[in-house]
Amino acid sequence: MNNAKKQLSSISSILLNNESSFGEAFQAIKLYKELLQKATSLDFDQEENRENIYTHSGKAIGPTWANLCVDDLQRTRKFCSGLYKAVIEKRKANPNQKTHVLYAGTGPFATLILPLTTVFTSSEITFTLLEINTKSFHALKETLAYFGIEEYIYGLENVDATNYILPSKNIDIVVVEAMMFSLKGEHQVPIAYNLIKQLPCETILIPEDITLNLLVVNSERRHTSKISTGSPISYYKRLGTLFKLNKDEIRQNSNSFFETFPYYEFKETKIEIPINIVQNFNELHVETRITIFNDEVLEIDESGLTVLDKIHQFKSMMLPSKFLISQYMCGQNPGLYFRFEN
Ligand SMILES: C[S@@+](CC[C@H](N)C(=O)[O-])C[C@H]1O[C@@H](n2cnc3c(N)ncnc32)[C@H](O)[C@@H]1O
Repeated sequence: MNNAKKQLSSISSILLNNESSFGEAFQAIKLYKELLQKATSLDFDQEENRENIYTHSGKAIGPTWANLCVDDLQRTRKFCSGLYKAVIEKRKANPNQKTHVLYAGTGPFATLILPLTTVFTSSEITFTLLEINTKSFHALKETLAYFGIEEYIYGLENVDATNYILPSKNIDIVVVEAMMFSLKGEHQVPIAYNLIKQLPCETILIPEDITLNLLVVNSERRHTSKISTGSPISYYKRLGTLFKLNKDEIRQNSNSFFETFPYYEFKETKIEIPINIVQNFNELHVETRITIFNDEVLEIDESGLTVLDKIHQFKSMMLPSKFLISQYMCGQNPGLYFRFEN
């Protein structure tokens, strides 16, 4: 085991342990970031590394921005830990078979799977890694060499995961983190649809579920809740669900999704806004709730991926519209689109 792998191992022992304190996890993420910065020859200040790739399905962020994702403490910690739990579940079910993890959108470091190489041997686990950005892809190869973990790799492809045809269907777990809050702009939805459609029902998708909910929010109480250290202050109410991304949804919509790919428009949802709601609340927001695996859930504001997304402010002395109609639309600028109706 080389020195970098030893350091990765001690960082991983904290990230994969649910008993670690916030302070320990904070320190571990800081060390993880420092270690990853040494792994590649990428210069994150260079303009070319800031360039995003735009496709018919949305945006893939450049290496400089993908590098910043590591710092999102609870995101990185909970994805690593959720993925670890999923691997344990698969290994229990099939102890004599290598667990095959497909990771789409690795960025320059394959951040979410590296800790697994410190707790499983290459005869227990193997990875297929997909990355669309050529610069991130080259850096990814450097990262694998830096930690001396090439023997874990089954497949390594510089491809667009929204249309990539998998050569092997023998995959136990798919992990995708190519998203922004509200599932705006990036490729999470088409990647998940493309990969899950090709795989057996038993394959675990990570995140297991992403749900976008409509909330009414009291902005003053929200502010107080953010700065208060005491017991939680309630400041919102859920009015309904706007969109879901999970295996059941994908199987249900798959045929029509690919008939019009990449421009699929999901069914509209219609949510009632109770007229008296404006007495207690003044804003409408989208909540992004991410269930990574089992009990590993990213709650509101815990991560950059789950910050509330304000879509409307009620005007004083104006009654609200009766309904909010929303629709998730795929294409170059994917996301939820809204209109009010009476
Ligand atoms: C938000 S970053 C996250 C990086 C890494 N998964 C992490 O968790 O730190 C998303 C990465 O997915 C890549 N990506 C986006 N769309 C992709 C696609 N269609 N196929 C393959 N990779 C993609 C981007 O280039 C970027 O490196």
